[in-house]
Amino acid sequence: MSSSTDYKFEGWAGYDAKSVEGNLKFIEFEPKQFAEDDIDIQIMYCGICASDTSTLSEGWGPVGDMWPQVVGHEIVGKVVKVGKDTKNGIKEGDIVGVGAQCDSCLKCHYCNKDQENYCSGGWVPTYNGKFNRTSKDSKSYGGYANYWRGPSHFAIPLPKELDPAEAAPMLCGGGTVYSPLVQFGAGTEKCKNVGIIGLGGLGHFGVLLGNALGAEVTVISHSSRKQKDAEELGAKHFLVTGDDEAKAFKGHERSLDLIICTSNAPEMNMAAYLSLLKPQGNFIFVGIPETGKLPEITPGQLIFGNLHVGGSLIASPQQLKDMLQLCADKNVKSWIQRWSMDKINEAIPSMIAGNARYRYVLVNEQNGGKL
Ligand SMILES: NC(=O)c1ccc[n+]([C@@H]2O[C@H](COP(=O)([O-])OP(=O)(O)OC[C@H]3O[C@@H](n4cnc5c(N)ncnc54)[C@H](OP(=O)(O)O)[C@@H]3O)[C@@H](O)[C@H]2O)c1
Ligand SMILES: [Zn+2]
Ligand SMILES: [Zn+2]
Repeated sequence: MSSSTDYKFEGWAGYDAKSVEGNLKFIEFEPKQFAEDDIDIQIMYCGICASDTSTLSEGWGPVGDMWPQVVGHEIVGKVVKVGKDTKNGIKEGDIVGVGAQCDSCLKCHYCNKDQENYCSGGWVPTYNGKFNRTSKDSKSYGGYANYWRGPSHFAIPLPKELDPAEAAPMLCGGGTVYSPLVQFGAGTEKCKNVGIIGLGGLGHFGVLLGNALGAEVTVISHSSRKQKDAEELGAKHFLVTGDDEAKAFKGHERSLDLIICTSNAPEMNMAAYLSLLKPQGNFIFVGIPETGKLPEITPGQLIFGNLHVGGSLIASPQQLKDMLQLCADKNVKSWIQRWSMDKINEAIPSMIAGNARYRYVLVNEQNGGKL
């Protein structure tokens, strides 16, 4: 093991659901006890994902005994401490990324198949989780902070070609769309036409990564405001739903093999969306509306089109590695706006207001992050 810890773990914590309005407080917190397969990271960058804000606002439900919580799960930083059983060949000084998951049992069927995100023992989220394998029951703390500690299995070395700030949002936003894109064969003969609902953080990765995999991407957005951006990102088609999806999709029936829904809109006309799919098509939810309800679907809508509706949770460490390599090989660049982490209480309300084009990334300048 390397040198002793001569730094404090400090971060921007929420104390109640109002914290999301710009009331995070800078606090010192106690990380998990250091285990031999852990690393410590000096955080340089952390993206702001809509899951952070839905957790902070308790939009997905009460977080119970998890207050105060330090959210953030698109982390990039420098490794400053390694245990003797550190994985992924990580050594001190490496630049690594951590996404939404920070632990799992590492021995079940799914963990052994590079599907740690579906671990039978339950996944440990990067914040508001409780460690189980080591340092049992201690709480996980996320990336709106100056240091992160956790299992090295979930830390991904960044390819040198990638800008570390641009890589940060790939660790959740990118991976979450990459996973269903590859699962359903985007870019291959059976899945040439991909639709992405919602052009936000995840959605813009849907366009970039769908293109990088060789698919033809259609963006489905609720207004025409982002059309130019969508084209610049590489989308070939742009559909504006307005408030009448059925009307908007006339003439586009059976045009898509796969639809990934990144929107968190509480209501959707599913019959209209499903009409866009070719037979054998897949509609995959990744966006999680705060209502927690599935839009209404009838069996007939699925049966008559031979359609499938499903969901997908983040990405596994192996998928994150593959995605980062794809981004390096194909020169994929996220569209980000950098905010000093000290301005977090301005950045979060601005992100919630829908101003990000397309991901806000918090920068820790004292840790070497570049504004
Ligand atoms: N499944 C997973 O593992 C996973 C992982 C990460 C995030 N998520 C979830 O994925 C969703 C998207 O996250 P994100 O960070 O990409 O969010 P985001 O940047 O805020 O983007 C969401 C997009 O959805 C569209 N939208 C349409 N109606 C909306 C409404 N009523 N309210 C908000 N957005 C609406 C907007 O695009 P247009 O303007 O183009 O319509 C918006 O840009 C969130 O629900 C998040 O919690 C899930
Ligand atoms: Zn497992
Ligand atoms: Zn996320």
